[in-house]
Parts: sequence; C-alpha cells; structure tokens
Amino acid sequence: MSGHLSVSSPEQIQELMKVALGEAEADLAIVNGAIVNVYTSEVLTGDIVLIKGDKIAYVGPNADKSIGSSTKVIDATGKVLIPGLIDGHTHLDHPYSICELLRYAIKGGTTTIIMETSGIAFPLGYQGIIQFLMASKNQPIKIFVAVPPMVSISPVAKEHTITAKELCKLLRRKEVIGLGEPYWAPVIEGDQRILDLITETLKAGKKVDGHSSGARGNKLQAYITPGISSCHEPVTVEEVIERLRLGLFILIREGEIRRELEVISQIKDENIDFSRLAVSTDGIGAWQLTTDGYMEFVVQKAINLSFNPILAIKMATINVAQHFALDDFIGGIAPGKYADIVIIPNLRTIQAEYVISNGQVIARDGRVLVSPRKHTFPKSTQNSIHLPKNFEAADFAIRVKSGRSQVKVRVIDQVTELVTREALIDIPVSDGQLHPDTVKDVIKVAAIERTYLPGKTFVGLVRGIGLKQGAIATSYAWDSSDIIVVGASDSDMAQAVNRIRELNGGIVVCAGRKILAEISLPVGGIFSTQPMETIARELHQIQQAATNLGCASPNIRLTLAVLSTAAIAHLRICEHGLVNLRQNSFVDLIVD
Ligand SMILES: [Fe+2]
Repeated sequence: MSGHLSVSSPEQIQELMKVALGEAEADLAIVNGAIVNVYTSEVLTGDIVLIKGDKIAYVGPNADKSIGSSTKVIDATGKVLIPGLIDGHTHLDHPYSICELLRYAIKGGTTTIIMETSGIAFPLGYQGIIQFLMASKNQPIKIFVAVPPMVSISPVAKEHTITAKELCKLLRRKEVIGLGEPYWAPVIEGDQRILDLITETLKAGKKVDGHSSGARGNKLQAYITPGISSCHEPVTVEEVIERLRLGLFILIREGEIRRELEVISQIKDENIDFSRLAVSTDGIGAWQLTTDGYMEFVVQKAINLSFNPILAIKMATINVAQHFALDDFIGGIAPGKYADIVIIPNLRTIQAEYVISNGQVIARDGRVLVSPRKHTFPKSTQNSIHLPKNFEAADFAIRVKSGRSQVKVRVIDQVTELVTREALIDIPVSDGQLHPDTVKDVIKVAAIERTYLPGKTFVGLVRGIGLKQGAIATSYAWDSSDIIVVGASDSDMAQAVNRIRELNGGIVVCAGRKILAEISLPVGGIFSTQPMETIARELHQIQQAATNLGCASPNIRLTLAVLSTAAIAHLRICEHGLVNLRQNSFVDLIVD
C-alpha cells in the first residue's frame, strides 16, 4: 500500500519489461474489456492489460505468454476499463476525516485526491498540516496536499499564518503538490508574504492553484502573472473561456459549495480545445457522499449533461494528471503507469464494478475490499477551543452611546446563502442597546476568537438568516480560528457557544436554553472522526433544527462558516470587527 508516487526501482523496471516481452508472468491480467485510451480519445477493443506489482506492464493483444498460473485474471467481457478517477481540487474539512472520505472514494472509483488544508491550518497551524499529511500516508489510494497560503481578514489569524520557511520545508515532501488557492485580492495588491509563497512554490517546481472568483480583464491577468496556473472559481461559460485563453487550467466545480457543471456544460458545443478542462468537487458534503457518491457522480453527471463520455472521463483523469505533471505516473492506462483502473459496465455508466489501485483490487461492486487506514489524531489536535470562561448573555450586548434613540447600522446582508453585501439600516436603541428584530429578519452575529486570542469577541448584526428564535454556533469557520454564532436571543447565543466549549468544537443549535441539535467536531474544532453516515445524520438534524427555528439557508453550516472568509464577497466578520472585502478594510458597525 502506498499513498504517493514513486519511480519504479531498477528491479521493478526489469520485471515490468519482462512481462511486456512475454518473459515473466503478470500478477494481474484484465482480459476481454474495451479500454478507454485517454491519450487518443479512442475506445480500443481486443487489448489485454497486464499488471505487475503496482504498475501496468503492457496493454495490447499479445499477452498470452505473460498469463500463467500465478496470474490472477479478471474477465471484463462486455465491460469498459477507464483510468482511476482524480479529484483535482477538494477540501477535506467538510467535516469528516480523510479515512471516511476514502471509503467513498474507494468504492466509487476515485484513486487520486488533491486536497487543500486551509481548514486545519487556521486553528492548528503548521502542525495541523503535518497531521493531515500523516493521515494521508499509506492509504489505498493516492492523496496529494496543497499548502494553504492562509489569507484571512482576522488580524489574529494573520499573525499565525504559514511562513515562507515552513512552506519550503513542506514543499520538499513529494506528497505536497504546491500552494493552494491564494485569493486574488491580496495578490494584486502586492501582499509580499503571498507573493513570496508563490515564488517559493514555483522555485520548487510545484503548482500554484488559483482562486480568481469574480476577477476579469486586467485584474484577472494581473492575478495570474506571478505564476498562478489554475482556477476552480469560474461560474459561467464566458468566465471559463476567458481563463482557458489565458492559459489557466480550469476545474469545473460540482460539490457542496457550488454546483456549476450544468451551467458550464454548454461549453461542450464550443469549438475549442478541452485538454485543460477538468471537473472537481472543491469540497463535498457528507450528505452528497452518502446519497450520490463522489467523483463517479460528477463524471456521470457530465455525461448526463451531454458531454462526450470520453471527454467527461478525461476531465477526471488525464487532464488533471497533466496539469499537475503527474501524467508520467497516473491518469491513463499505459505501460509504466500506476495500475489505477476502474471497470465500468459501459461507457455511459460510471459505476465501478472493480476498482484497482496500485495494482490491487480495492473495491468490487460498491464494496470496499481494502479499508483505508485510520489515523489517530493526537490529543493536542483535539484541544483548540481555549475560551477561558463560559459566555453570558451580556457578552453579546451591542451597547450604543447614551442619548441615542436610533442609529444607522452596517448590517451583514445575506444575498445568497454564501454571498453577502452591506446594508445600512436604522435600528432603534432601547436600554442603550441594539436588539435583534426578527420581524425585519435582523439578528445578532458574533465572531469569537478561540485559539490565539481566546474570547476576543465582536458582535454585529446580520439580515436574511431567517431565525425567529434561538441561536446557531459553529467552530468551523473559514479562514479564521473563530467561533461564529448567530442568534435571536443573547442567552441562546451564550448557551450555543458554551456547548461548543464543552464539546471542544462543533456545531450547536439551541433555543429556549435547550440544545436542539449538535455535532461534535473535536479535531481542530473543524471535523469529526465519526463514520460518514453518523456525520450526515447529525448534520441533517442540525439543518432540520435550524429550519424549524425559521432559518432560510438550505445549508446553515456553510452559511455560518463563510461569514468569516476572505474569499467570498463582500461584508465579513472576525473577532476584531466587520471587514468590507471590496475596500479590504475594517468598517464601523454604527455608521451614524
Ligand atoms: Fe477550493
């Protein structure tokens, strides 16, 4: 079992060549199947795949001499062989462990995952990334890791971002594929730390993944100039084509955060080259994995949306491998490559009957035959909620200077479940304080630093969450080490945060000082090591409880998590206040 790539040893090369020449027996032969050749976009019949160890030795018709008594034979009559699927961009903090994701990856035919580590890096720092690397090692499939540039609006988080020296240490590891998604605003503003990280990554011969959401024209070109080579953020065909023309590699998203495959599928009718187009999940929800599956669902959906099936397969195999310069090892079925092969019933049905990874059958007909390794996260990673004391209702009071009966307030206004803008709203003052007004759908929102400046809190107002009573809190908050809590009641906000403190991380819904639903997320306060099915059930209960309290978001976990991000427009919150991302600066809560 090997989680990562290695060049074949001289002995292994000799053995592979002997099998190819008919002078030694293969370990595994797949006969009678049609083979998708991703290099020529053909489907070839009459060829046999011979495997020795973890690599492919031969693909062709003259294999008889290498099939002997020690060779295991898979008869793929009527079936189709495709390369193992690759997710070129995902986040493994959604909120399950690597091991649990791998169960779904393995049974569905995904044999390589390239993952971001920003989620763990904010609360746990460099050591958190190391733990992720350890968890990804020696697994039945390959996992590569991108180092997070850690762009944040939080001054506290900014003090604890990764340094160029730490990055260089990580880049020396072969499982580290490069730098993950530096957001575009700090890049074009010339943030020297981010530019240094990009430079060091390129010097190491590795990739810098892009994140150019909403950028176009001159700004987009300025953004990619330092050497950014991909983007998974375009949401329209026009944005995809603009980026492809600039030489960017594009990953169309179909996951929990965004599902763009349907809109972007129109691109299939364009008369352009698609070799730099791919599909990825950018993070996939527990509910999606348990109901739909993983990359096999994404490729199937592309086929259902009338992408040519061979192109759909290439978008999850060779195209990704080529972008990351992994195509000498994975992405296609050819001699010398890793034996990562999925056998499907026909070209239009991405349903794994056999999943072969590193030459070993790891799943059959949806059953995992080689279980992923469970990593034990040390105690130190399960202690990231350092709040010194319990919160009280009074901690969420928004006090206004005496004598005012009404003030104009800058409110975070939900445009969609993820995007916000600022709204200036007149709010009455009573008892010298601002209060939630559920009739106008204005409730409180607070960001509480939990790791480096524990207890530092900022309280503001948000419109559009829909909550009529109670509170919802989460220790999973993007690009920060904050707890985010929203509430129609100060005492329920305190209760929800205190419960997160007890759980050492989690998501909690409460009302009337009663806990209605919760999930414990002990590792870094961002994920659980429970089985995926348990996580999916608990998240469903959280969503249900939130909906019952009036919550309008179909995914309250994400809606709260992105309130602290530097990635999505445009009014955000951290423990030090409100930040307008357009101005990239703190802005006052009370305007007038
Ligand atoms: Fe991403």
